[in-house]
Amino acid sequence: MKVLGISGSPRKEGTSGTYKLVKTVVENTGCEVEIVSLRGKQISGCIACLGCVKDNICKVKDDLEPLREKIVEADAFVIGGPNYFNNLNALTHALFERWFQFRHQAGSTLWGKLAVAVGVGGTQGNAPADEIEKMCMYNLIETVAKVQGQGAASCYSCGFGETCEVGIPVNLHGPGVKLTDDIIPDVEKQTDVMAAAADAGKLLGRRLGDGHDRTKVASTVKEKVMAMFGEAV
Ligand SMILES: Cc1cc2nc3c(=O)[nH]c(=O)nc-3n(C[C@H](O)[C@H](O)[C@H](O)COP(=O)(O)O)c2cc1C
Repeated sequence: MKVLGISGSPRKEGTSGTYKLVKTVVENTGCEVEIVSLRGKQISGCIACLGCVKDNICKVKDDLEPLREKIVEADAFVIGGPNYFNNLNALTHALFERWFQFRHQAGSTLWGKLAVAVGVGGTQGNAPADEIEKMCMYNLIETVAKVQGQGAASCYSCGFGETCEVGIPVNLHGPGVKLTDDIIPDVEKQTDVMAAAADAGKLLGRRLGDGHDRTKVASTVKEKVMAMFGEAV
């Protein structure tokens, strides 16, 4: 079974909380794994050209093209994205928009696959993790676990963190905050978060090894999607 980890943070792997958590989840699956970082990649959102409707292959030429085969071949995904303005960041969202290419006619390429959603924010990562779960749902992918942690907002290293009124350090700790190492968040210092990431990886590995029935998973997720649509109209 192949698990593809995707970190949607544009920050360096050693700095990004998203990357660290995706790596921890993936490494605990016990499966054949690969991690891709979207850092530095140029991936546009879907441009609605409909070039993919006949063959389920996106015709936009950018850095998603070489990732397509890895996405097709994976049995499961560990996808992480940072919280930007209480949303999933644009880079990770662009990746999902381009999964439109897999949906047409009998486009069952992703149906019934499994996922773990990872979200990291300067305050909390629930918003991106929830959005990743929703985007997976649209592709009939079941999210078996969500992991969320607190990363170091850029405000801790921008040079103005101790005084910026709208920055995360002043907002979390109050005026006069001093940026010492012990207050700078790092998911690796959050033992509960790291344990949740390891548990999520193990659960994903178990689900994949446990006679994973894609047809059954897809049909369960489809019911949830239909219920969601029902609530929206
Ligand atoms: C443009 C931008 C907007 C952000 N908005 C939020 C926000 O609304 N809420 C939050 O908790 N963190 C916010 N952050 C902080 C990031 O979520 C935080 O730095 C997180 O660690 C990013 O994940 P990464 O470490 O994997 O890059 C924002 C960061 C940037 C660059």
